[in-house]
Amino acid sequence: MSTRIICIANQKGGVGKTTSAVSLAHGLARSGKQVLLIDLDPQGQSATALGHGPEAGVFYLLTMGESPQETAFLQSWMRFSGREGLQYFPGDQQTMAAQTVLNAQDRPLSSIRESVSRFFKQDLDYILFDTAPSVGGIQERAVWAADLVIVPTATEFLSADGLGKVLRMMSILQERKRWRGSLLGILPTFYDEQTRESKATLDDLRKRFDASLLAPIHRATILRECAAEGRTIFEVDPLCRAAKEYAALTQLVLKF
Ligand SMILES: Nc1ncnc2c1ncn2[C@@H]1O[C@H](COP(=O)(O)OP(=O)(O)OP(=O)(O)O)[C@@H](O)[C@H]1O
Ligand SMILES: [Mg+2]
Repeated sequence: MSTRIICIANQKGGVGKTTSAVSLAHGLARSGKQVLLIDLDPQGQSATALGHGPEAGVFYLLTMGESPQETAFLQSWMRFSGREGLQYFPGDQQTMAAQTVLNAQDRPLSSIRESVSRFFKQDLDYILFDTAPSVGGIQERAVWAADLVIVPTATEFLSADGLGKVLRMMSILQERKRWRGSLLGILPTFYDEQTRESKATLDDLRKRFDASLLAPIHRATILRECAAEGRTIFEVDPLCRAAKEYAALTQLVLKF
């Protein structure tokens, strides 16, 4: 059985990366899959969204070598989320220091793939990366490590900015750096058909990206409440529209 790596990325902040990573991770786990969510963002919000606290695990994951002792140490950082099938690997501000180490040591683009491949033996179906709103050594290596990338983008004017940069990074990695993964899709978020801005942005995205555009996630206050409570949308209200939308995204991912 092979482990699929999915990276959630957009260098723009506040576009729903963490919300999508956590919802998809729990969606996949609820479908019977074994999932590990790795928080590559120094803000450490994946853990808090699951009701836990940020911790330094990712710093070690990104900077340690591959000896059996180091692997055992890293395995001890895998945390059970309290939900069947869903583990997470916590990060915190120290992840920023890992970025400096990666650059100083000039680690190869493949270094994150190599770091996480030690977990492939653990019967994991999916590894998901939540990433920070920036471009840097970690984001590049996280995309390179991924089989599939989801790019959440808010349906607001100027949202195309961040989107363009991630997509450009992906094509450079594909064309020049032998990245073998691909874009799973662009995920429009904060969609609100009542506003002209939201509709116009979605129309524009449709024209530009066509088949790569996924079904939008509507703006929903409940998603904000979930994050604050440390519970996922499937726990707070599994029948609401946001839960159905993230369940549909989960089904799509399962078919890939
Ligand atoms: N569809 C939505 N409707 C309403 N609120 C949402 C939606 N998706 C996410 N949110 C809320 O918007 C805020 C930003 O979302 P989130 O943290 O997922 O974005 P992010 O891209 O991970 O941000 P960052 O770039 O800072 O990591 C959070 O408070 C979250 O609860
Ligand atoms: Mg985030």
